[in-house]
Formats: sequence, structure tokens, C-alpha cells
Amino acid sequence: DLYNFRLIRPDTKVYGIIGKPVGHSKSPLLFNAAFKSVGLNAVYLHFLVDDVEKFFNTYSAVDFASGCSCTIPHKEAALKCMDEIDPIAKKIGAINNIVRRPDGTLTAFNTDYIGAITAIEDGLRSLNGSATALGSPLAGKLFIVLGAGGAGKSLAYGAAQKGARVVVANRTFERAKELADKVGGQAMTLAEVEHFHPEEGMVLANTTSVGMKPKIDDTPLSKDALKHYCLVFDAIYTPKDTRLLIEARDTGAVIVYGTEMLIRQGFEQYKNFTGLPAPEDLFRQLMEKHA
Ligand code: ATR
Repeated sequence: DLYNFRLIRPDTKVYGIIGKPVGHSKSPLLFNAAFKSVGLNAVYLHFLVDDVEKFFNTYSAVDFASGCSCTIPHKEAALKCMDEIDPIAKKIGAINNIVRRPDGTLTAFNTDYIGAITAIEDGLRSLNGSATALGSPLAGKLFIVLGAGGAGKSLAYGAAQKGARVVVANRTFERAKELADKVGGQAMTLAEVEHFHPEEGMVLANTTSVGMKPKIDDTPLSKDALKHYCLVFDAIYTPKDTRLLIEARDTGAVIVYGTEMLIRQGFEQYKNFTGLPAPEDLFRQLMEKHA
């Protein structure tokens, strides 16, 4: 009973995920189970969407529409259909979470960067124990982002907003430079970052596809270089244990899985949709069961 059919009434709130393709998305499974667990009169569907502008013109006019998630290939194109955009999402240039207000206006967020950054912050807190001061544990940290694509942008803007000193390292230097300039950071190539360790206890976030299935023996940074990092995050989640994370764990760093970003971006979407905290344990159990 994926959709809780018995509950659907004229005033049922309708959510969904737009994308193309979209049928593989596990979001309906997670959100419908979450709505049911707290007795919310709401349903979450797959919307196979070709033309985003046409979709949002209709969606903003329909009263039962309450919000939607947005996936490939619409994360950038959907921006121009919004009435209000979270300032960081606007800078990143991509949205994945849209809330329809009762007056029909659409407000957009990017929960991908929030998912990654909160996971990294919690990892740093676990390292420092409970005696950490108020504010983000990323403040003042040297934060190295590998990659300058969509995910690289999310991590670089997210970390900069928390007060980290950002370095963007990318195979293609020009792309690193462009992003680093935007976040007030430093740019370098992947070869240069191998020997870059002006201090110990740096934070690393890999957003390149190096190490992704099926090329699981690849890694973007040598094990030798990893000893200068206190925390390593990998946005890759297939496999969950990348070579980068295995080697980082071996050198004693705290590791943060790509799956953690994935699940936490869902928590944030649920909060934006409902105004309620997400049923985190339920989300985690379902993700594991349907991995
Ligand atoms: P995403 O949206 O997931 O970030 P993307 O925009 O395609 O994906 O970006 C992929 C990133 O992985 C880029 O930073 C890319 O580097 P280039 O800008 O030089 O292309 C990086 N990348 C992909 N394959 C790579 C490889 N074999 N070695 C190093 N970097 C690689």
C-alpha cells in the first residue's frame, strides 16, 4: 500500500518528485511511510515531467498541490519558475525542494548542501567531544573540496557560509578557479592538492566521480596525503565504502558517508514540506531495507 489509498480525500495534500526518468526514485516510499506514521493526510507521487515550466504553471495554480522534490534533469531549469529561492540555493544554481504556499507561490530550497554540511558538522562534533563551543565546528577550518561540478558547488558554498576557509581542487583548473573565486577561496589542481598541507586537521570533501562503481579501485587522493585530514566526506554512495573512505579510516580520520548526505537531504525536505521534524529512524530503516 505505497500510497495509503484509503486516506485519500478531496483535501488530501499532494506532494511528489519531478524528474525524467523518475520511476526509480525511492522518495515516494519514504515520504508516504513518514506521512502515515504521523497520520498526515498527504500523499507523495512520482511525476514524470518533460517541460518544467508547463508543470509549475499548472502546479502553482492547483490547490491540493503542496510541494515537490526535484531531480535530474530539472534542478537548474526549475529555478526560473520559483517566486522565492533560498539565497544559498540561488548561488549554487540548483534546487531540489519546492514548497507551495497556500497563496500558490513557490519557495525553493537546496537540501543537498544542507544534508552534506550537517553530516560533516556532526562528524566534527564527534571528534571534538561534547565540549565544543556554540556555532559551526566548520568555522575557521581549512576545507578542501575535490571537484567543481554541481556537488562541488554545493559543498563549497555550504562550507563557505559556515565560515570555513575553502580550497577547490579540480582536474580542470579553470573550473576550480571559477568556483573558488565565487566563494572567496583558493583554487588548485588535483595534482597540487596531493602536496598541500599548510596545517594538520583539514577537512576533505570528495565530489568527483573518482572511485565510483565500477571503478572502485580508483581514489582521488593518496593515502599518504590523507594523514593531514581529521575528517573525510565522500559524496559517492555506490559503493558506500569507497577506497577513499577506507583509507581515510585507516589513517584515523572521521569518515562521513555519501549515504548520509542522501538521507539527511530527505530529512530537510520533510521538514520544509510539513513543518515537522522528520521521522529519522523510519527513514533510515527504509533506506537500508530498500538499498
Ligand atoms: P556532479 O554534478 O556530480 O558534481 P559533474 O558536474 O559532472 O557532476 O562534475 C564531475 C566532477 O568530477 C568534476 O569536477 C570533474 O572534473 P573536471 O571538471 O575536470 O571534468 C570530476 N571528475 C570526473 N572524472 C574525473 C577523473 N577521472 N579524474 C578527476 N576528476 C574527475
